[in-house]
Amino acid sequence: STIVLTGIKPTGKVHVGNYLAAIKPALRMAAEPGRTSLFFIADYHGLTFIQNNEEFRELTYGIAATWLALGLDPEHTVFYRQSDVPEIFELSWILSCLAPKGLMNRAHAYKAIVDRNGMLGADADNGVNMGLFTYPVLMAADILLFQSDLVPVGKDQIQHVEIARDIAELFNRVFGETFKLPQYAVDEETAVIPGLDGRKMSKSYNNTIPLFEPAGTLHKLINKIKTDSTPPGEPKNPEDPPLFALYKPFASEAQIEVMRASYANGISWSAAKQELFQAMDAFLEEPRRKYEDLMADPAQIDAILKQGAAKARALAAPQMDKVRRAIGR
Ligand code: TYM
Repeated sequence: STIVLTGIKPTGKVHVGNYLAAIKPALRMAAEPGRTSLFFIADYHGLTFIQNNEEFRELTYGIAATWLALGLDPEHTVFYRQSDVPEIFELSWILSCLAPKGLMNRAHAYKAIVDRNGMLGADADNGVNMGLFTYPVLMAADILLFQSDLVPVGKDQIQHVEIARDIAELFNRVFGETFKLPQYAVDEETAVIPGLDGRKMSKSYNNTIPLFEPAGTLHKLINKIKTDSTPPGEPKNPEDPPLFALYKPFASEAQIEVMRASYANGISWSAAKQELFQAMDAFLEEPRRKYEDLMADPAQIDAILKQGAAKARALAAPQMDKVRRAIGR
């Protein structure tokens, strides 16, 4: 069967970009026949940023509750917390002994910090911990341990999946055929979801629309979406980010066509925002209720994740044995 795997790190509340690029396609793939799906919370990746225990715990539960509220079925998927699977960290170390340091130097997230430090005239590695630097190796272990075929992600994670492939190829060359080479699955339409200001929606730009805010907060956020000064009555270009791009995934084909016509006919920005709010709120109403119920019952989440970790470890064990044998242990 085809193995589908993806993870989200608890560095902020799950937002519309995470949902559209990763969660939604992952759940769609999981529902197809002949698929084994592994979805997980990349909590120890999150530790590279979040170093506050209460916040870390809350954000971790938040991601778990989000997946479950959106319909993940823990009976038919393997749903776990990364840190509950020690094999991942053993593999991560082994892979780090093969991964060229230069490959990490070129990883976008690390390079962005080095470049910014350069601009600021600061030491290149200022603010970089070793976890952040070796982040792609841990991600390679996440992916390779389970012999993943497909990794549904947004565009920003493509490089990481390519690094995982590179490391797998290197290992196979040195120690013999051991790992399957994974492929990323990126949807053209949802590769980069724009945030409130039109730039990529990102926790670090502070421009996100968290999925499960109360309706009133969601409404306020949507009203903050950046638009230009085209007055009501004048035609507007739906391709200008981000308003229409955010509307489309939450609307039906028919609604999208009506909205296109409204843009041409000069709908006001505030009316277009109102339509976006209504479409999103209608979709989110029920999952939001489930999310809130789950967040009020962390013991239930713990029980589900515990069961998922047992399944994940059972899948990991034979592959880890194979790796240990391959290296001569
Ligand atoms: P993370 O937690 O930053 O994001 C989770 C998923 O959301 C996608 N994404 C977006 N896609 C389109 N437009 C956006 N504005 C946007 N913002 C976020 C990300 O591409 C990602 O798919 N390193 C990963 C977590 C991870 C992982 C893994 C993923 C750890 N191990 C193994 C897949 C497989 C990350 O930081 O995602």
